[in-house]
Amino acid sequence: MTTDNPIGLARGLTNYGDPDFSLYLRRSFARSMGYSETMLQRPVIGIANSASGINNCHRHFPELIDAVKRGVLAAGGLPLDFPTVSLGEVYLNPTSMMYRNLMSIDTEEMVRAQPLDAVVLVGGCDKTVPAQLMGAASANVPAIQLIAGPMMAMRFENERLGACTDCRRFWAQFRAGTIDALRIRAIEGNLAVTAGTCAVMGTASTMACIAETLGMALPGTAAIPAVHADRLRAAEASGAAAMALAKSRLTPDRIITPQSVENALRMLLAIGGSTNAIIHLAAVAGRRGIEISLKRLNELSDTTPVLVDLKPTGQYYMEDFNAAGGVGAVLRELQPLLHLDCMTVTGETLGQRLSAPAGYVDRNIVRPRSEPFLPYGGLVALFGSLAPRGAILKRSAADPKLFESEGRAVVFSSLEDLSARIDDPGLDVTPQDFLVLQNAGPKSGTGMPEAGYLPIPGKLAKAGVKDMVRISDARMSGTAFGTIVLHVTPEAADGGPLALVRTGDRIKLSVRDRRIELMVAEDELGRRRNALPPRPSAPTRGYRKLYMDHVLQADQGCDFDFLRGGGAF
Ligand code: FES
Repeated sequence: MTTDNPIGLARGLTNYGDPDFSLYLRRSFARSMGYSETMLQRPVIGIANSASGINNCHRHFPELIDAVKRGVLAAGGLPLDFPTVSLGEVYLNPTSMMYRNLMSIDTEEMVRAQPLDAVVLVGGCDKTVPAQLMGAASANVPAIQLIAGPMMAMRFENERLGACTDCRRFWAQFRAGTIDALRIRAIEGNLAVTAGTCAVMGTASTMACIAETLGMALPGTAAIPAVHADRLRAAEASGAAAMALAKSRLTPDRIITPQSVENALRMLLAIGGSTNAIIHLAAVAGRRGIEISLKRLNELSDTTPVLVDLKPTGQYYMEDFNAAGGVGAVLRELQPLLHLDCMTVTGETLGQRLSAPAGYVDRNIVRPRSEPFLPYGGLVALFGSLAPRGAILKRSAADPKLFESEGRAVVFSSLEDLSARIDDPGLDVTPQDFLVLQNAGPKSGTGMPEAGYLPIPGKLAKAGVKDMVRISDARMSGTAFGTIVLHVTPEAADGGPLALVRTGDRIKLSVRDRRIELMVAEDELGRRRNALPPRPSAPTRGYRKLYMDHVLQADQGCDFDFLRGGGAF
C-alpha cells in the first residue's frame, strides 16, 4: 500500500490513476530483476553513471560503481545505477561545451523522475561534473558527487608526461619545427596512459576541487588518482554517505549557497584553476538563483594567493597534489578567508571538517599563505569598451611582461579564417601585435571552443616567440599557458564590440587596472556596426535549435535561460 512518506520504490509513482496499482506493478517488474522483497523495501540510492566507450577518462567507472554499490548495500540501501549522457572532452563535435546543458537536463530529469532517496553522481571529464552539479542543484534531491580522479603522469624517457599541459608544450615545439613527426607520434602514445581525467590542474581537476569545496563531495576525495585503491574506498564511502543523506534529507539547496559558492571561488583562485571553471561555477550557482559577480571575483582574487605549484601554473601533477595534502591542505591555509558555517554532504560544516587534525602537507606543493606560489589569485576579470560585461585572464598562467601593453589588432573573423591564415608566411604580424579571434563564443554556432589559446603565428613561433596577447570570445583549455583574454562578453555573435574590431585598430590591456579597451571612436564603431553582415541562419530543429535559442553569455555560465533559478518545477 502507498503511504504519505514513501521511500524507495514507493516514491514518485508512475501515473496510472491508481497509486496502489502503480506500486504493485513497479514492484512486480523490479522483482523480475531478481531482487528479494526485502531488498525492494530499502531506500533506493541512484548512481548516475556517465561511463561510455567514447570517454577514456571514465573507463574505470564499472569498478568504481561496484564500490559505490558496496557502500550502499552495507549501509542498508538498494543501489541502482542508471546511464546518463557522457561527454568525452575530445570526442564531441563541435565541442563538449555545447552538450554540457544537455547532460545537465538529462541528469536533472532522471534524478527527479526516478524513485531515488538520494543519488551518487559519478563524473570526471571536464563538462560532466558541472553538468551533474547543475542537474543536482535543480532537482534538489539529496546528492553526492563522486569524482573520477586524475590520470597518473608516467615516465617517458627522462621526464614525466601527463595530459594535457605537456600535449600543448610538445605541439608548440612540433609547430616550431624543433621536434619531428616521428617524435610527436612517440609522445602522442605517452601523454595519457591510465584511466582518469587530465593529470594537471585543468578543468576536470579544478571542478573536482570546487565540488569538494562546495561541500558536494566527501572530504579528501577530489585529487585521489583514478587508479589508486583510495579512489575505490572513496567510492564505497560515497555510497554509505548517500544513505546517510537519504535519511537526513540534506538537499543541495542547503549546501550550494552564496557562501559556499564564494568559498569555491577562493579555491579556484588559490589553485590557479581553469578559466572554464568560472563559467561552470556560474552555471551551478545560477541553478540556485545565485549570481556570481565578476567584480567580486576581482576582489577575491586580490586577497587570495595561489598556493599550489601545479601545472599549468607550476610544475607538479595532480597525483603530487593528492600526496601533498590535496584540497584539505589548501582549505586549511585559506581558513581565515572562508565561510566556515557552510554545510557539506557529510552533515558537518566546513569549519567542523577543518577542526580535524591536518595530516601531512608537502610544502613544496601546497605553500603556506605566508609564502605563496603567487601573492594574488589566478584569475582576473577585465572590463572596458571591448568587454562591457567582462572578460577573463588567467594571470597565473601568463607572461606579466605583457600585462600593461598596447598593441595593433590582427583580426581573424572566424575559426576557419584563423586556421587558413595563422601560418601564412605572408601574414602581417609582429610579436607586439594583439591577435583577435571573433565569432567563437556561445552563440557563434561553434559551441564556444577552447580556441582562445590562438597559436603563435607560424613564422613567429619559428623565430622563438612564446607568448603574445590573444583576445577572443572563445574559451581556453584549463591546461594551457599564455597571455590570453577569454570569454569576451557580450560575444561577437551577440552584438558585442568584439565584432567591430578591425586589423590595425589599437587595443589597450591593463591587468593592473582590470581594463581592456578598444581605442576606436564611437562614431566609427557605429558605422562598422551598421555595416555588419547578417548572421548566418540558425539551426531550425533539435537540440542545436534549443541551444541557439536559449544559451546565455559566459557571465551567466552559458546556461539556458529557462534552467536558471531555484524556482519550483
Ligand atoms: Fe577528460 Fe581532460 S579529456 S579530463
